[in-house]
Amino acid sequence: MGTFVVRQRDTTCHTLLYAAHDAFRRDLDRLAAAVAAGKGGAAHVRAGWDNLTDQLRMHHDLEDRLLWPRVERAVAGRPAERAVLAEMRAEHARIAPLAARVDAALAGGPPQDGAAVAAVRDLREALEAHLRHEEAAALPLAEAALEAGEWRALAADAAGRCAAGAPLFVPWVVDGIAPVDRSRFLTALPGPVRDRNRVLWEPRYRKRRLWSA
Ligand SMILES: [Fe+2]
Repeated sequence: MGTFVVRQRDTTCHTLLYAAHDAFRRDLDRLAAAVAAGKGGAAHVRAGWDNLTDQLRMHHDLEDRLLWPRVERAVAGRPAERAVLAEMRAEHARIAPLAARVDAALAGGPPQDGAAVAAVRDLREALEAHLRHEEAAALPLAEAALEAGEWRALAADAAGRCAAGAPLFVPWVVDGIAPVDRSRFLTALPGPVRDRNRVLWEPRYRKRRLWSA
C-alpha cells in the first residue's frame, strides 16, 4: 500500500480518495487471481466484484459531481489545468464499458474464463493508468487549487451524499490492508464513525466473506 498518502492539509478528503484507490487495486488483484484460477463464477467472487463496481461508481460519481467542478471553477482561464480535469472525466467514461465487459464475462460461467481473464486484464490496466494519472496530476492540482473552506464544503457535500454507503465503505477500505495503513485511515475518521465501524460495520462486513469462501 505504498501509494497510501495522508496529506498534512485536508486530511480527511485526501485520505478517503487515496484509500479508495488502493482498495480498487487490492480488489482487482483479488479478481485477477480468482479468474486466473477459474473461480470467476463463484458466489463470493461475484459478491466481491459487485461491491467493487458499486464502490467504483460511487467514487467516480463523487469526483465528477463534487470534486472536479470545484477545481474547474478554481482554474477557470487556465487551459492546461482544465485539460487535466477533462482527461479525468474522459478516463472515467472509458472505465465503465470495461467494467461492463468484466461483468458479462463473469456471468458467462466457466466457458468464458478466457474472456474473463482478458476483460479483467484490460480493466486493470486502464484503471491503474487512470489512478496514476489522477494521483500524479489531478489530485495535486485539486490540492493546490482549493482553499481549506472549499475542502470543508466538499467534505460536507460528500458526507450528505455518501452517508448511506459508509457502513460498507469503511470496512471495505481496511479489508486486509497493512496495520499502519489501517490505523492511519481510521484515525482520519471521526471518533463515532470509528466506533461504529469496530462494533457494527466490520463484523457485518466479515460475515459477507467478499472474495474468499
Ligand atoms: Fe479517484
